Amino acid sequence: MFGAARRWLARVPRAWESAKDDVDAVLKNDPAARSPLEVALVYPGVHAVWMHRVAHALWTDGFGLSARVVGHANRFLTGIEIHPGATLGRRVVIDHGMGVVIGETARVGDGCLLYKGVVLGGTKLQRTQRHPQLGAGVVVGSNACILGNIVVGDGARIGSGSVVVRSVPAGATVVGVPARIITPARTPLEQSLDHANLPDPVTEMIRSLASEDARLRQRVARLEEALDLGRDAQDESGPDLAPLDSPDFDGG
Ligand SMILES: CC(C)(COP(=O)(O)OP(=O)(O)OC[C@H]1O[C@@H](n2cnc3c(N)ncnc32)[C@H](O)[C@@H]1OP(=O)(O)O)[C@@H](O)C(=O)NCCC(=O)NCCS
Repeated sequence: MFGAARRWLARVPRAWESAKDDVDAVLKNDPAARSPLEVALVYPGVHAVWMHRVAHALWTDGFGLSARVVGHANRFLTGIEIHPGATLGRRVVIDHGMGVVIGETARVGDGCLLYKGVVLGGTKLQRTQRHPQLGAGVVVGSNACILGNIVVGDGARIGSGSVVVRSVPAGATVVGVPARIITPARTPLEQSLDHANLPDPVTEMIRSLASEDARLRQRVARLEEALDLGRDAQDESGPDLAPLDSPDFDGG
């Protein structure tokens, strides 16, 4: 009894730090937010995250029913339903939030931004990992559904109203039903404004051909070795090319 109380008290400083991070994250992500006090008082997404932290701690300490009751109160007060078993990282922002549902085995990485009506849902009835795993910095647009045990890579963006049923690579943007990639990898704004370092598509193409060539050469070498062909055969293969991943390679 006293042991449990001591354990909970020991969590307070970390919870306080994490609560301050949550407020800062909202101030960064919502242009409508004007002060930390305002965010702490009137943002249901923040309240939902805080109540979930309590529910999750109860859940992991084995107080399953109490955890569910706190989760239910959370839903009643904020309109956001997070199963106590779900894992939320730091600085997760749930903006507006009404109608958000996060399932038991879902994981939401640090710095994710979820808008209203987002569902991280399961597609199986078995008690296994059945909900999505979101990496860090993922943005999920309003009313998007991400379904099943799939992975959404770091920095990916899910369009509003999308239904995502397959894993999404890091940095990609997906939209639609079912969701499809519209940009393979988004360049951060700062990088795209760095005109001195714009990517050169021709060099990129040559690099990719060179790396494919290296892969094929290695396969041929392995095949020759397996077939016990002599070194002579390899010598006929033509001039030596620069190492394919060499930083000296400039594509010219
Ligand atoms: C997905 C998203 C991040 C893409 O933003 P973006 O990179 O600026 O993309 P663009 O607006 O340039 O759109 C690119 C293409 O995708 C389409 N598109 C964008 N969002 C879409 C969506 N949610 N569903 C279907 N198509 C979409 C655009 O029509 C455009 O198509 P086109 O090239 O044929 O004209 C953004 O549209 C989005 O949905 N953000 C969520 C915002 C939100 O939920 N706010 C709620 C506040 S409560």
